[in-house]
This record gives sequence, C-alpha cells and structure tokens, in this order.
Amino acid sequence: MDYSSCSQLLVLAILVLFTLAQNIINAAPNGVFNVIDFGAVADGIRDNSKAFENAWREACNWNTYSTVLVPPGKYLVTSVVFKGPCKAPISFQLQGLILAPPGLSKLADKESWITFESLRSFTLTGGGTFHGQGRTAWPENQCHKNSNCQLPISIRFNKLNDSTITGVQSVDSKFFHINILGCYNLKLNKINISAPDDTTGDDCVSLGDGSQNVLVSDVSCGPGHGISVGSLGKYKKEEDVVGLTVINCTFTGTSNGVRIKTWPDSEDGKASNFTFEDLFMNNVENPIVIDQEYCPHNQCNIKVPSRVKISNVRFRNIRGTSLTKEAVRIVCSKEIPCQNVEIGDINLVYNGIDDKGPAISSCSNVKPTLVGKQIPATCV
Ligand SMILES: *[C@@H]1O[C@H](CO)[C@@H](O)[C@H](O)[C@H]1NC(C)=O
Ligand SMILES: *[C@@H]1O[C@H](CO)[C@@H](O)[C@H](O)[C@H]1NC(C)=O
Ligand SMILES: *[C@@H]1O[C@H](CO)[C@@H](O)[C@H](O)[C@H]1NC(C)=O
Ligand SMILES: *[C@@H]1O[C@H](CO)[C@@H](O)[C@H](O)[C@H]1NC(C)=O
Repeated sequence: MDYSSCSQLLVLAILVLFTLAQNIINAAPNGVFNVIDFGAVADGIRDNSKAFENAWREACNWNTYSTVLVPPGKYLVTSVVFKGPCKAPISFQLQGLILAPPGLSKLADKESWITFESLRSFTLTGGGTFHGQGRTAWPENQCHKNSNCQLPISIRFNKLNDSTITGVQSVDSKFFHINILGCYNLKLNKINISAPDDTTGDDCVSLGDGSQNVLVSDVSCGPGHGISVGSLGKYKKEEDVVGLTVINCTFTGTSNGVRIKTWPDSEDGKASNFTFEDLFMNNVENPIVIDQEYCPHNQCNIKVPSRVKISNVRFRNIRGTSLTKEAVRIVCSKEIPCQNVEIGDINLVYNGIDDKGPAISSCSNVKPTLVGKQIPATCV
C-alpha cells in the first residue's frame, strides 16, 4: 500500500470513528433520551433539574415518538416544567424515584414542583415514584396560621390532550399530589397516592377548571384528602368542567372520598357529567360530598349562593366505612339546585369511635334519582 492510499484509509477511519462518536453523544436509539446521558446523577443529593430539562428538550424536538427515560435510582429535582408543544408524541418513563428538595425554600416555583404542560399524546408511566418530602415541609408551613399561604403541588398536568398517566406513585406531597387543569381526554390509571397522616399532603387528585373527559381508574388514595373537583367559582372567568369518571378506586383513611366543591358568591359556571362508580371507602371521614358552600376560613360571603350549576352526577356502587356519621353530604346551591343527580347502590357503614348509631345522609337543594339500595337512606 502506498503512502497516499494509507492516509486516505486513515482519514476514512477517522471519519467513521467521528461519526460513530457523534451518534453515541446524541444517542437516541429508538428516540430514547436517558437522563443519565444528560448528566443526571442518582445520588439523591445533587440537583438534576438541568439534566432532566435538557433530556426533555431534545426528546421534545425529536421528529418521531420519543421517550425520556429515568432509570432506577433516586434523583433530586427542584421545580421543573416539562413543556410542549413537542414535535411528536412523547413519553416520560419514570422507573426510578424523583425526590423533591426538603422543606419549602429550595423550590424556585412556590406553587409547583413537577409540571407537565401543553402536550398532546403524552404518556407518563414506568412504575416509578414522585416523592415530595412533605414531612420536611411541615415545620416550615405557615398554612395553619395564614390562609393565603402557598405550598407546592407535587405534580401538575396543565393543558394536556389525549394523554395517559399510568403506573406511577406519588408519595408524601407537600400539598396536592396531582392537580389537573385545562386537560382534554386525560386518563389516570393505576396510580398509588399516599401521604402519611402527619404531613401536609392534601388532595390525591384535584380537578380544576377547564377540563373535559378525565378518567381516573384503579387509583388508590390515602391517607390524604381524596379526589376533588374544584374548588370552583373562586376566581373570575373560570372555564367549565365537563366529564369526569372516577371508577374502581380505593380510599383509605382519607378526609374525603369523592367531592365536588364550589364557592358561594361565584360567577356563573358549569360542572357536569360526573360518574363516581365502583369505589371502596376504608375509614373515610366524608365518603361522598357535594359542597356548594365551600368557604374555608370564612374567605367568602356564604349568604350569597354559588352560581356554578352542577348537573348529571352519578354515584354508583360505593361501599365501605365512614368515620363520621354523615357518610353522604349533598349541599347544592339555593339559587341553582343540582340537576339530574343519580344515586345508585351505596353501602357505607359508620365506623367512628365517638358516637353511636348508623350513618346518615344530609341533602339540600337536590332531588336525586335513587336506583338500587342505599345505606344510609339517602336524601329521603
Ligand atoms: C387541546 O384541545 C383543545 C380543544 O380541542 C384545543 O383548543 C387545544 O389547543 C389543544 N391543546 C393542545 C396542546 O393540543
Ligand atoms: C400500588 O400498590 C399496589 C399494592 O401495594 C402494588 O401492587 C402496585 O405495584 C403499586 N403500583 C405502583 C404503580 O406503584
Ligand atoms: C377494576 O378493577 C378490577 C380488579 O382490580 C379489574 O379487573 C377491572 O378491569 C377494573 N375495571 C376498570 C373499569 O378499571
Ligand atoms: C354530558 O352528558 C350528557 C347526558 O349524559 C350528554 O348528552 C352530553 O353529550 C355530555 N357532554 C359532554 C361534553 O360529554
């Protein structure tokens, strides 16, 4: 071989190696973007926010289906927004555990920890865990003194369309575990949500205004505050909530089971098409609640009725134990009574310690259709 063909070979070899190396650096075989390749360290101590954001940005810019992969391990992450729109459907595979910083001070965004926003065909899955370290926030929390306090919500789903959240856990949130705002066709399935009794943890799932067609199935919730729609009607220009199905869920030691709450003295609004079905309540304080006089800390004029119209609500096959006697509480607006409420088979047994006697229901401004058998006798 002469000198020139040898050097040509060498140049070729270098070119090949260089291309290979490039491919490895931008590695996304099958569109998988592993946070480790972006510098994430699973030591539970270093802040991985930048690595997570960078992995997300590249995945979001990928032309075809992409996945952000968080492999097993413990990753500390401060406030992060995983934002779209993305070029193609995207999934977030959480196999490991994402850990919030302790206390309240280290979150740049005082109201949110992890947010997924403005996405279509998004999937969050992987069997992993969001750990909010709520226990460490309790000593710093001022909410028992100041009702205008702010606490971060663990996971926010804002403006997601045709998306699925399945097979993940939320543990020990500092405030709400999961908050849903402005989502169309969102499914939450096979999710475990819990916060020890003594933490700040709040609603397991909270559905805010502007959502349509949300399905919550096979979710286990508790301890915590249950699954809530609202509160609605506190702010001006809220959008309607239409279509929530909560099915096949278990509530353990929660303060509420399923609840719809609206503020008195509100603007006009609509909340309709709710189905709460096949639910098991295990020592829940208030298993079934519609409360249109929701006014914590007397922040409102309770004498002026809510103008949020609640209609098409079905409660079916809800059973278990209630820690208060009032197992069913349906308090609708004096001005705009609830319409088309159906109560199917219910079997809720009082299981409190202080008082004797069977569970009861209390109802106002509602005339539900009763189907099947209700224990306690409901709204009669
Ligand atoms: C989601 O769907 C709604 C209603 O169809 C639409 O207005 C909105 O732009 C969509 N958002 C995204 C992120 O695609
Ligand atoms: C939820 O909890 C159940 C029972 O403890 C367990 O079998 C299941 O794997 C958990 N799911 C997730 C996503 O962690
Ligand atoms: C409800 O849960 C049961 C048992 O876990 C399961 O077989 C069934 O498919 C679930 N149904 C729905 C609608 O999620
Ligand atoms: C709400 O339910 C009613 C009656 O079941 C149905 O006619 C209507 O299409 C539903 N609306 C939406 C937006 O799902």
